[in-house]
Amino acid sequence: MLKLGLLGCGMIAELGHLPAIQQTPGIVLESVYDPRWERSLEMQRRFNAKHAYPKEEDFWNCDFDAVIICTPAPLHLEHVTKAAKYGKHILCEKPLAMTVGEIEKMIEVTNAANVKLYTGFTYRFSPSALEIHRLVRSGAIGEVRSLRLIYLWNLHGKWQFDASGNMIPSKLRVGRMEEGGPMVDCGVHQIDLARWWLGSEVTSQRGIGVWVEDFEAPDHMYLHMGHENGAHTMVEMSFSYNAVSKEPRSNFQYELIGTDGVIRLNREEHSFELRNSHGTQYLPWHPEKNFRGMYNELLFALTNQEDRNMPLANDGLMATQIARKATNQAIAKRETGSQKNHSKMLRAGKDVSKSLIPADSAEPAP
Ligand SMILES: NC(=O)c1ccc[n+]([C@@H]2O[C@H](COP(=O)([O-])OP(=O)(O)OC[C@H]3O[C@@H](n4cnc5c(N)ncnc54)[C@H](O)[C@@H]3O)[C@@H](O)[C@H]2O)c1
Repeated sequence: MLKLGLLGCGMIAELGHLPAIQQTPGIVLESVYDPRWERSLEMQRRFNAKHAYPKEEDFWNCDFDAVIICTPAPLHLEHVTKAAKYGKHILCEKPLAMTVGEIEKMIEVTNAANVKLYTGFTYRFSPSALEIHRLVRSGAIGEVRSLRLIYLWNLHGKWQFDASGNMIPSKLRVGRMEEGGPMVDCGVHQIDLARWWLGSEVTSQRGIGVWVEDFEAPDHMYLHMGHENGAHTMVEMSFSYNAVSKEPRSNFQYELIGTDGVIRLNREEHSFELRNSHGTQYLPWHPEKNFRGMYNELLFALTNQEDRNMPLANDGLMATQIARKATNQAIAKRETGSQKNHSKMLRAGKDVSKSLIPADSAEPAP
């Protein structure tokens, strides 16, 4: 039996991790911790955790093999360091940390403590993503030359209501934009898929930003990546797509273009197909996330000391590095462009002149 502790009982713990842990045979939820004690108790009750502790130290001293870190990204380094100190293996949510320097530190402390550090790239475990991985390796579309990975959505909208019923800027949105914006928050999944599907590292990149709003980071971004094997990936990410529309809809798709055809997945159409010189295959479509699949793989990896498809710390590092650099490339280009044409959709009550992007990730635009 693999014993897990979960730190940070927020949205993704409740909707993604805890149900999957509960549903995976061979895994037991030993303990949960959140500084909001009522929340810890609620999650303990709903997901049958054996223990919940009001004091964080008691959580770490509890007898579990691995910890699931679901706290906000700026706290990941602190929590990975604690886990290493207590000898726990780690599955940490993305983005693995705020800067490349923080991730290097995480790798150092986990190596020294001889514990595993995995990145929570759940998209890899969608049966459709696993099928794309298999199809690419079997040569189903020949040599893959181009990937188009697109996710345009509204991050649950621009506004929320406060306790008095006033409309205020969405706290989730402001938080995610201040942590780096859509490429750092969501684009890391797509960057990871491109590297994993192609089995080829990124050797050149360029980030281009669009500012529908006026945060420091762009809220709509294009990332172009050249791979070592000659393939090209375009990632397009947005938090502003229908952000104020009464009837919003999203746009999520993967397209892989090869010398012998195309693999195409469209989430909104629920379609997944392979078209090549032999004909067309309509494949079973699956949503982009699969927490249960990730936990089955985590169980296998920690039981057999074989990582297989588990995303490693280095995968988290590469994705964060590329996403941060792309965001900084976009920002640098904006600053050399016209200052007169900023969007009129200013963000309420925020000082946009202050730099929000961590300094050690600053890269000059090529
Ligand atoms: N893989 C995915 O699809 C996916 C989706 C959403 C979010 N995420 C990632 O998951 C992480 C958490 O996101 P979320 O949306 O659940 O955030 P959230 O704000 O809903 O939850 C964070 C939780 O951490 C708790 N917390 C704060 N300080 C803490 C501390 N010192 N110790 C322990 N717990 C603490 C908070 O009380 C809160 O319950 C982020 O890194 C985010 O990017 C991943």
